[in-house]
Amino acid sequence: MKVTVVGAGAVGATCADNIARKELCNELVLLDIKEGVAEGKAQDMMQTATLLGFDTKIIGSTNDYAKTAGSDVVVVTSGLPRKPGMTREELIGVNAGIVKTVCENILKYSPNAIFIIISNPMDTMAYLALKSTGLPKHRIIGMGGALDSSRFKYQLSQHLGCSPSDLNAIVVGGHGDTTMIPLISKATWNSVPVTRYLSAEQQEKIVKDTMVGGATLTALIGTSAWYAPGAAGAALVESILRDEKKLFTCCVALDGEYGLNDICLGVPVVIGKNGWEKIIDIELNEQEKAAFAKSADAVRNMNNVLSTL
Ligand code: 2OP
Repeated sequence: MKVTVVGAGAVGATCADNIARKELCNELVLLDIKEGVAEGKAQDMMQTATLLGFDTKIIGSTNDYAKTAGSDVVVVTSGLPRKPGMTREELIGVNAGIVKTVCENILKYSPNAIFIIISNPMDTMAYLALKSTGLPKHRIIGMGGALDSSRFKYQLSQHLGCSPSDLNAIVVGGHGDTTMIPLISKATWNSVPVTRYLSAEQQEKIVKDTMVGGATLTALIGTSAWYAPGAAGAALVESILRDEKKLFTCCVALDGEYGLNDICLGVPVVIGKNGWEKIIDIELNEQEKAAFAKSADAVRNMNNVLSTL
């Protein structure tokens, strides 16, 4: 199997490093537009192979898409990351053109690839990839909810004093600081509702801290986070290539599900060899339904900006 990661910045390189260490594919191409960066990071990763015990063949490329030919999965991380104080949505002007061009270039050499979109504003970049490529919707997966759900479990574990891996908790809706919806009413600690152990104030704080999880790290680090985004991207690649049928929240095209059409938004989906294979319909309470509709409106407004670029 072959995977291409476009964008050798912190997120892309971390995603590639996770993929290589897990030996998810035989051949891994890391591509960037900046001269030498992808080649350098690919070599650096290859020089960990004997130390970490993997045989993945990692190749770096400066904008030579011929090297990506025959990729089964492509992870798109290219574009600008946000700076402290910025929203993901503010990146649309620069990143939309980059993502569109990347998808077109990839398709010239890998017509059957499944795309995982990470570039921000991710919900709109996934929509752009779907519309500009015309690919079957199952092959366009926006990675946001998998990351946000992992941040949600981290916040819950901090308050509960438990292992994050004992938690089942998902975030739906957009991947924006104000559009994501951590579903705390449905979160469980090994089948026990977490709400039994958290005050209303704690629940509110956990939801709020989850929503701004990315912005909090950007303020601390000075740029977008990369360890968790890279690992979340690799987890989706793993579920595709190993046909694991894992359930993640991903940004996918809705055609009537959750009462929405002509939008890509974060919902629970089964991820397998064909991309996203099934949308899981969960029962939202009235408050969650209202938040979901509001999230969809905000994402649709961002999608409408595409036609003005
Ligand atoms: C994040 O939230 C990069 O959108 C990603 O860290």
